[in-house]
Amino acid sequence: MSLKKINPIKTKSWNKLKAHFNEIENKEIKNLLSSRSNPSSFSLEWNDFNIDISKNRVDNTTLNLLIDLAKECKLDDAIFKQFNGGIINETEKREVLHTAIRTDGNEKINVDGQNVIPSILETRSKIESFTNDVISGNIKGYNNKPFTDVVNIGIGGSDLGPVMVVEGLKYYSSRLKPHFVSNVDGDHVLEIIKDLNPETTLFVIVSKTFTTQETISNANTIKDWLVSKLNDSAVSKHFAAVSTNLTEIKKFGINPKMVFSMNDWVGGRFSLWSSVGLSISLAIGYDNFNKLLTGANKMDKHFQKTEFKNNIPVVLALLSIWYNNFFKCETEAVIPYTQYLNRLPAYLQQAIMESNGKSIDRNGNPVDYQTGNIIWGDTGTNSQHAFFQLIHQGTKLIPCDFIGFKKPLFKENTQHDKLMSNFFAQTEALMMGKSEKAVVEELIKMGLDESDVNSLKAYKVFEGNRPTNTLLIDQLSPESLGSLIAMYEHKIFVQGVIWNIYSYDQWGVELGKQLASKVLQEIENKKISNHDSSTNSLLKSYLSN
Ligand code: F6P
Repeated sequence: MSLKKINPIKTKSWNKLKAHFNEIENKEIKNLLSSRSNPSSFSLEWNDFNIDISKNRVDNTTLNLLIDLAKECKLDDAIFKQFNGGIINETEKREVLHTAIRTDGNEKINVDGQNVIPSILETRSKIESFTNDVISGNIKGYNNKPFTDVVNIGIGGSDLGPVMVVEGLKYYSSRLKPHFVSNVDGDHVLEIIKDLNPETTLFVIVSKTFTTQETISNANTIKDWLVSKLNDSAVSKHFAAVSTNLTEIKKFGINPKMVFSMNDWVGGRFSLWSSVGLSISLAIGYDNFNKLLTGANKMDKHFQKTEFKNNIPVVLALLSIWYNNFFKCETEAVIPYTQYLNRLPAYLQQAIMESNGKSIDRNGNPVDYQTGNIIWGDTGTNSQHAFFQLIHQGTKLIPCDFIGFKKPLFKENTQHDKLMSNFFAQTEALMMGKSEKAVVEELIKMGLDESDVNSLKAYKVFEGNRPTNTLLIDQLSPESLGSLIAMYEHKIFVQGVIWNIYSYDQWGVELGKQLASKVLQEIENKKISNHDSSTNSLLKSYLSN
């Protein structure tokens, strides 16, 4: 059950989209919007999600052709294979089953002839009892004191997912205080532990491979610190570990009761739903962690069962392809209008760019079309006061996802309407712009004379016609966040399928790692081998310190 290998640009629909692009390219969103006879097709309602795609440079023909493209690229076949354990990560010969780990328990998924659901549920119940025991104080530290703090030690998918969710769901916190150590920068780990009490801190080492330089270095630094403050035998009480590499976990000295396994058919950047989410469960309590999984599972079902034209991840993926491959947009911005989701853009950068940053297709040939988008963003309204100038008046076309919530979390919050008025105003402004006529009228009203009006007006004009998707959700909750993350995961998958690339490997991170270990040896031996002249002189300068 491998993915089909269809070159998207050789399809009929791609060619039709190319011709259609010439018709749409210069059309204004505001005119497209007002001329639509079926506005409801541009709004996707699902559970507590209201997704408005009407502020896009598309008409009915565009959407229909994009859906034809998905069909021609056999997206339905790919979805079936992903959910049913097909080896769709072919270069690593693996299934891709992050969707299975958020199962509602009612399905059966075979890997190597064995149903994996029972073992998934077993791991989940181990996470549940461990979480409950740590929060209740049943599990204690070396000096018999309950834990107050939890430090997640991991990087990439073993950090970004957990930290984004823990930050995103801070409102739902348990009594434990979470911390995250990721960078191999020793100052990062020392800064985090400097104020921690070793007697009451639990460390969770998260590494799928348990060989990642950053994570193992940080874990060893912390282990030395803990032993120096307490005792050798404190290690088995203060460290838990999540990994597929049970041999290395044992060598580190982790108590087998504190070991949480994971499967190699879950990719790092898609693993927050697995035991990699242990820190999430500890930080927000197991019930909330479980609701996160429920939300993701609901989105999985929507994605699997909904016809493409109403399928949220499919439609968002197709729009992104439209801008990436036809309008030649290089980047996409994600702007959540809640401070809680401030790590969402960073999380999506790994999820999207590590997955679809590929240039060899599934036939082994270099692609001659654009693949992965560059993702960036920050929270609204902060980003309005930072980079929005470029989105409104710069030379680049940057499609944006605006994510907002109808209700705030705190009952006492009296500022929500202000936040949301910015949310609605920005997408309207990006679409409508401001004409020269309106600018001139405004300047005259302000009392400027004719020459000032003439010299200023061009700077104050907004072209508009900037596309946005608006994702309006009832409230930020474990369940809605679970659905939102799963939505982006499926969007990544759809784009990878259509671009005919492998989204679930990441060979591109290897070269830098290999070179770094060689350079480290040279630095330690103070003996520089033959690099290029630039690297040689930089290394000499570093060693002369
Ligand atoms: O950066 C490469 C990568 O392999 C990511 O895909 C992964 O999330 C991260 O490193 C961490 O890997 P591990 O969980 O094995 O430590």
